[in-house]
Amino acid sequence: MTMKIAVLYGGTSGEREVSISSGKGIIKALEANGHEVIGIDFNPEQLDQIINLDVDLVFIGLHGKLGEDGKLQGLLDMLHIPYVGSGVLASALAMDKSKAKKLFAQNGIPTADSMTYSVQDNHDRDTLIKQILNHFELPFVVKPNQEGSTLGLTIVKQEDELLKALEEAFKHDDDIIVEEYIKGREVTVAVLGEKGNEKALPVIEIVPKNEYYDYESKYSPGGSEHIVPARISEELTKKLQDYSVRAHQLLGCEVYSRVDFIINDDGKPYILEVNTLPGMTPTSLFPDAARAIGMTYEEMIEKFVQLSLKN
Ligand SMILES: Nc1ncnc2c1ncn2[C@@H]1O[C@H](COP(=O)(O)OP(=O)(O)O)[C@@H](O)[C@H]1O
Ligand SMILES: [Mg+2]
Repeated sequence: MTMKIAVLYGGTSGEREVSISSGKGIIKALEANGHEVIGIDFNPEQLDQIINLDVDLVFIGLHGKLGEDGKLQGLLDMLHIPYVGSGVLASALAMDKSKAKKLFAQNGIPTADSMTYSVQDNHDRDTLIKQILNHFELPFVVKPNQEGSTLGLTIVKQEDELLKALEEAFKHDDDIIVEEYIKGREVTVAVLGEKGNEKALPVIEIVPKNEYYDYESKYSPGGSEHIVPARISEELTKKLQDYSVRAHQLLGCEVYSRVDFIINDDGKPYILEVNTLPGMTPTSLFPDAARAIGMTYEEMIEKFVQLSLKN
């Protein structure tokens, strides 16, 4: 069945460039699948773009704030326009790393030890720095609570780097997370399927060219190597897949998501986050996972569409 589908891309978050690339891929695939496609460079200052839409479905190709965080999903709900992917609550929860981590920990999915600090309680940076250095051993990670693409994140190795790291993270969000540094290998797991019956795709191991999986490693061609399936035991693979489906369901995600982990040198996996609108660019991970089970990019996009219509 061909449909009229609006693809929202771009937006105003720090991940605008990534989203333009995701949007291009999604539009091309939907057209190849025979749908009538309207591409919209989403601008939250011009909501009439959305309010006046006359389409069967919206495909959200946005990443980060005002796109991935549930606000747009709320608007579309009010307009009774169906969309692809997770709803308001799951989107907002997944975007709030601190709240999501609490849910994971309470439900037996290991997370790295962390503390959350809000800007309004921590104007005095000297006190904040003392508090952090008291609680965490170097190195540790400082990152914005709500952001993506590794923006605003610093791996702090020396005390004198902390102030700059805090200011950088606070630029992106009023709440920041300080987290124990997990040394090890990075993997990610794509989750796909009907609500209650989601399946995890093969585990992807990420080998970044840079020291960690930063913005450049994520998006420049050759910035990182994706190894599918990850070079880990069958047992650990099962565990990661089980954690991923559980994390997806705990947050109430729908249709698809991608769950990031670090496995420490003792083979223990720690969940980092759930991405409700993971990248769909030519170098993105989710399409690689789909390819590993014999699904082309176009087939993957069509699967998202079909699953969304069922929900
Ligand atoms: N606790 C940690 N220990 C080690 N590396 C980390 C930690 N947290 C984040 N990183 C590194 O930073 C990257 C981005 O972190 P993540 O929490 O997934 O945020 P984002 O939403 O920006 O992707 C990770 O892929 C990893 O390379
Ligand atoms: Mg991540």
